[in-house]
Amino acid sequence: MKRQIIIANWKCNPIAAKEAKELFDSVKEKAKRFKEAEIIICPPFIYLSSLKADKSIKLGAQNCFWEDKGAYTGEVSALMVKDLKTEYVISGHSERRKYFNETDGIVNKKLKAILNAGLIPVFCIGETQEERYNNQTEDILKKQISLGLEGISANKFPLLIIAYEPIWAIGTGNPCDAKEAQKMRLFIKDVLEKNYNSNTAEETMILYGGSVNSENSSLYIKQAGFNGLLVGGASLNAEEFIKIIKQAL
Ligand code: 13P
Repeated sequence: MKRQIIIANWKCNPIAAKEAKELFDSVKEKAKRFKEAEIIICPPFIYLSSLKADKSIKLGAQNCFWEDKGAYTGEVSALMVKDLKTEYVISGHSERRKYFNETDGIVNKKLKAILNAGLIPVFCIGETQEERYNNQTEDILKKQISLGLEGISANKFPLLIIAYEPIWAIGTGNPCDAKEAQKMRLFIKDVLEKNYNSNTAEETMILYGGSVNSENSSLYIKQAGFNGLLVGGASLNAEEFIKIIKQAL
């Protein structure tokens, strides 16, 4: 059986390095007992160097730039985060699409940079409330997958992780119904099979994200068949995050 992948996306939290270290160490201590899960913490860039990954807990970045280095003020490249023992990088998160105008084309460049650096991408896709209401969810997901992965051949990814995060479910306390989420998971597999092949569709790990907590985490894994979770707000509380993992396994 595949190991579950449980990712904490801390977003722009916490404010102080001391707090970040306490939260990380607290999760790390308790994470040791979950041998069946890959637990990944994605803190803000600035904390990556002070948090020490080990066998029980891995590090991920929330973003990266598409060039390796150069005159790009304020940017951080995939190679730079790799140098800090980071193994995963999130790309395509709806908050970056919304607040930083990241298009599918930009996401594509970032995914290529992540793969070229030998890192594992966590590629986020999802529809808005309005798109769902207008029955455009499948078209949107298909477009995001096709454009995001354009020009990337299947043998390029050692492992591809796709996180289905319906935008209306993020940070709202209104998670996607497990049956609905399952339908979208199967649809994503279908698109991967058509764009690539059945092997890629089978091997790709598909996660759910959007208002995950310890009450609902098991539904997405055990009922809806997801390979893991991408957790935002609830991952900022070590106890709740550990409970989420425990319930999901
Ligand atoms: P919440 O768990 O806070 O809804 O955030 C989900 C998310 O955006 C993870 O990337």
